[in-house]
Amino acid sequence: MTTTEPVPPVETVDLRDAELVRNPFETFARIRERSPLARGTIPGVEPFWIVTRYQDVRTVLADPRFVNDAATVPDACPAHRTAQVWRARGLPPECEKYLRAGVFDADGAEHRRLRGLVHPSFTAGTVGRLRPGIERLADQHARALREHADAEGVVDLVAHFAYPLPVAVICELLGIPEPDRPRWRAWSSYLGRGAGPGLDDALRAMVAAARELIDRRRAEPDDGLASRLAAAEGTTLDPVETVSLILNLIVAGHETTATLIGNGTAALLAHPEQLARLRADPGLLPAAVDELMRWCGPTLGALPRYATEDVRLAGRLIRKGEAVMPILAGANHDPRVFADPGRLDLGRATAPHHDVHLGFGYGAHRCLGAVLAHEEAVAAFGALLRHHPGLALAVAPAEVRRGPNPVAWHLAELPVRLG
Ligand code: HEM
Repeated sequence: MTTTEPVPPVETVDLRDAELVRNPFETFARIRERSPLARGTIPGVEPFWIVTRYQDVRTVLADPRFVNDAATVPDACPAHRTAQVWRARGLPPECEKYLRAGVFDADGAEHRRLRGLVHPSFTAGTVGRLRPGIERLADQHARALREHADAEGVVDLVAHFAYPLPVAVICELLGIPEPDRPRWRAWSSYLGRGAGPGLDDALRAMVAAARELIDRRRAEPDDGLASRLAAAEGTTLDPVETVSLILNLIVAGHETTATLIGNGTAALLAHPEQLARLRADPGLLPAAVDELMRWCGPTLGALPRYATEDVRLAGRLIRKGEAVMPILAGANHDPRVFADPGRLDLGRATAPHHDVHLGFGYGAHRCLGAVLAHEEAVAAFGALLRHHPGLALAVAPAEVRRGPNPVAWHLAELPVRLG
């Protein structure tokens, strides 16, 4: 007698749905149990598959049958090609190539070549040397919060701390001069949010400024990353790739890290017992950052991957050319891997044999800036704890507003009272 496994039903999830943005973990928990392979929708893009279980997310991110560059998969739905997505959002066609030539859209040897050129700036050793500078910037920004506070000591932590700090760090790393930083910061938040008025102007201006930066660093090299890219241009890199890598780093390193600092602060302030634990033992900070990445990490979903052949996954068949988005937030709250996943436990990552969260992705495209982002968050939370011992939320946790972007689950603002 043969038994046929029941085929799980397929549910559809609107990734811009207001309820999902408010509490994605509830929606993904339901989907994870009822429909391990579900359909995801975003306005303007053809529906795609989503996976929410830890093991399935890892499979899609690490299995070579899935690739990042839809253009290399002959049967890929044209609406999924990154260029089409950007075009649907109204981006200037002459800028498209700059969004496609970086690490995110590359696979195999191309990807290793591009990633290899920037990787030395993001190793534990290099980031360790940046630590004193990052701590100084975190201290400066934490202290400056008082200058922005109103008469009652209330200030928006997102605008005045979470956003400026990561962009200052990445500008430092690239060697972008101090006076130019505010405009890079403004462009980058347009791009990081992926849509909205002003996006095309921001992109055009950013491409021009990246070109200018590279040309300047070729003429006057320093020890920044832009100088290294300028030196590789013409041999290992073509001029479009050089600009593209700079844009990749600014955008990938800004909105995400800002969101971790914003989400993490909101989570700590909403869990006074965990905050007290951290105040009592600041040595817990690195593990606390890992837990905050798991519990409220900035990136709900990784970029879609494209099947290069028919693949059986989560009890169904994904056809060659179809797109699958791995939902990192689903994986990080999967009870098959994390006991009591909804509980924030800052010591979780200190437990022996704990499973690693997937908030930075997994496999060949795992976040290049993971060590840097972790270091920045440790410095940011450390500076907030030191400079503002009475820090408290100035609104109820449920009133904290979020922007509608499933890729960066960012806070629109975080009003806090400095105490
Ligand atoms: C890739 C998250 C900070 C640079 C990724 C991926 C994730 C991620 C999930 C993989 C995407 C995928 O596979 O589809 C985050 C989070 C951050 C953060 C949550 C902050 C908390 C940074 C920083 C930088 C950076 C600070 C650099 C300055 C990159 C780059 C990639 C990447 C270049 C592409 C790597 C590749 O395709 O090989 N990041 N990131 N990220 N991240 Fe981050």
